[in-house]
Amino acid sequence: MARLLQIAQIGSPILRQQAQEVPSVHDPAIQTLIEDMMATCEEADGVGIAAPQVYSPFRVIIVASKPSPRYPNAPMMKPMAMINPNMEFIGDEMEEDWEGCLSIPGLRGKVRRAKRIGLAYRGPDGFIVSADYDGFVARIVQHEIDHLNGTMFVDRADPKSFASEKEYQRVMKEEQKRREEKV
Ligand code: NI
Repeated sequence: MARLLQIAQIGSPILRQQAQEVPSVHDPAIQTLIEDMMATCEEADGVGIAAPQVYSPFRVIIVASKPSPRYPNAPMMKPMAMINPNMEFIGDEMEEDWEGCLSIPGLRGKVRRAKRIGLAYRGPDGFIVSADYDGFVARIVQHEIDHLNGTMFVDRADPKSFASEKEYQRVMKEEQKRREEKV
């Protein structure tokens, strides 16, 4: 049975450290970490989580986009564990959109990110996977890889865009209404 892990909050030193490469994906401690991170991310209504957020120093991220009260417009995907991810930007198109973070409860901000990325990583079975992502999933990957390098979305956000969760929810509802009126 997977365990729910405690989520480190901003101010915790581990969130500012450089995470280490996983030497062996097959290490039972890493396999357990992956299962526990998946469960913790789901329980917290997250669309992703990085190992430093659960006090682990390794380069492991979970990417698990799905619509939720926290991200009503997120696309649905099968949750994925990515170990030692390596990312490159594809093209130079940028996109600005809202982000939040399980380690910074109650705060939202708009962040400019690359629209398209290429990614290579090891899956939980140890095999190397290569894939391209765009839009919201590419955004999640960039946000989580930032965590592996001690960077948080507040470092990259437009400070004037910062909003409380309540204000963000209000803006989302207004945007939804505008979309429905257009249809
Ligand atoms: Ni985060």
